[in-house]
Amino acid sequence: MRARGLTKRFGALVAVDHVDLSVPAGTVYGFLGPNGSGKSTTIRMLCGLLTPSEGDIDVLGLRIPEQAEDLRRRIGYMTQRFSLFDDLSVRENLEFLAAVQDIPRAAARQRIDALVEQYHFQDRQKQLAGTMSGGQKQRLALAGAVIQQPELLFLDEPTSAVDPESRRDFWEKLFDLADAGTTLLVSTHYMDEAERCHRLAILDQGVLVADGGPAELTAALQGRTLAVMARQPRQAQRLLAGLPGVLSVAQIGNTLRVLLAHPGEGEERIRQALRGDGQGAEVTQVAANLEDVFVSATRGREDASASVPAP
Ligand SMILES: Nc1ncnc2c1ncn2[C@@H]1O[C@H](COP(=O)(O)OP(=O)(O)O)[C@@H](O)[C@H]1O
Ligand SMILES: [Mg+2]
Repeated sequence: MRARGLTKRFGALVAVDHVDLSVPAGTVYGFLGPNGSGKSTTIRMLCGLLTPSEGDIDVLGLRIPEQAEDLRRRIGYMTQRFSLFDDLSVRENLEFLAAVQDIPRAAARQRIDALVEQYHFQDRQKQLAGTMSGGQKQRLALAGAVIQQPELLFLDEPTSAVDPESRRDFWEKLFDLADAGTTLLVSTHYMDEAERCHRLAILDQGVLVADGGPAELTAALQGRTLAVMARQPRQAQRLLAGLPGVLSVAQIGNTLRVLLAHPGEGEERIRQALRGDGQGAEVTQVAANLEDVFVSATRGREDASASVPAP
């Protein structure tokens, strides 16, 4: 899947702003970004549901949106909302999905039997979907999304309404699909889910601010993340947040996590400031995580736009 200069405007709002993307076959590709950053809009354009204002899209060798009709049979799409009928049973939901996709009856029965087993619904086939837990519903929605054995699966915040354990189970299923050769594009605002992806793209206000493998993205921040153990963390946080070269200071338990604008720069200044404040603090370099990547990518932009004089 490849997109070049992908842009979507809604009136004056630029929801997706010249995004370049390349998703290799067989990968679990993550889309990370806060609410309103353009994840859903991008996904809708990639699967041919929404016409871009600008840009080129190539998915499974098809030009989108022109050839969206041919694409439809080869992809699955699952959204953050439950796309199930509450008053149909588990099996009836799957039968309905097979019917609207014109899967012949015998083939559908076989496929549904297999899915019921793979997704652990053997004892719940007759249960009404509306009476199941959030995690079970999401598992059923996933079974429904793969009924046609799609080559490519779009998942738009699929786990935003389920508990942590169900999220883990759900991701196991996603990796099973990836192992079987399916390409997955998953949007999320959970950092732990982003860590699991083979590659990811970070969106902020419609702009792609970073992309790469999780390890590659965090390695690029080497020397920029510090842990500070201070006697009075709140006071130390206020002190450090104002220092030049400090992008952000977050309190995590009793530790402060400091993100520097440049590797190494500012570390000595931080020590001095803490000493001057009588904090007797311990400052150590720590490995960056994806949250640091996210803050770095977005704060950097805020600073850049703040320095542009108002018209
Ligand atoms: N159909 C629409 N009409 C007008 N604005 C929209 C429409 N769809 C999305 N937007 C706006 O585009 C921006 C990106 O939205 P969206 O892609 O849903 O973000 P995300 O999925 O990352 O939360 C938001 O500001 C949203 O309000
Ligand atoms: Mg969304």
